[in-house]
Amino acid sequence: MANKITVLAVVLMAALMAANAIPDQTPQGVEKWFKRLPNAREKLTKLHFYMQDVVSGPNPTAIEVARSSLTANSKTFFGLTRVFDDPLTVTGSPDSKTVGYAQGLYVLTSQEDVALLFTYNFVFNDGKYAGSTLSVQGYNPLEAKYREMAVIGGSGVFRLAKGSAVASTYWANATTQDGIVEFTVYVLHYDVSGDDQYAQDI
Ligand SMILES: *[C@@H]1O[C@H](CO)[C@@H](O)[C@H](O)[C@H]1NC(C)=O
Repeated sequence: MANKITVLAVVLMAALMAANAIPDQTPQGVEKWFKRLPNAREKLTKLHFYMQDVVSGPNPTAIEVARSSLTANSKTFFGLTRVFDDPLTVTGSPDSKTVGYAQGLYVLTSQEDVALLFTYNFVFNDGKYAGSTLSVQGYNPLEAKYREMAVIGGSGVFRLAKGSAVASTYWANATTQDGIVEFTVYVLHYDVSGDDQYAQDI
């Protein structure tokens, strides 16, 4: 009886570890994954975190890399381009736990509104998503309460992901242009652990 419980516990632990593991990213592993894809189940994952965008001070996380000759006279900062590497935190507080980074660039692309083209990756470094990424691109008009951007792909546990990333300003200072953005992300991806046959094969 005790043996059976031990075996069950080991099997359960192995199943949990398999559920959290990044799939094999060697070419052979990826090929196997795609061949087994018809047996996989699509699942919905919801993620919630805050992006800390610091423009001012000695340690900015977003730096200007380009602007146009019109930018200085544009009320919408038309042409301004920044590269960013912003921590993703569990709460709105910059001191809260970091679960990853948003890395990419934003470009002020509207002459009518303060609106940005965002193109970036969420790079996760915590828990079961550590080592996995989501690629996001979209339209971000800052005055809108909610801005929806497209999750256009992913890697690791988010291989072949698609979904929506909803951004909302949590805090912003117009003078320094520092900001904290709340993100709720809905991701459709494939649950390789849901199918025993499939999980064994990778
Ligand atoms: C915005 O930043 C400026 C410059 O650091 C500061 O003087 C001002 O108090 C800040 N405003 C808010 C609302 O935090």
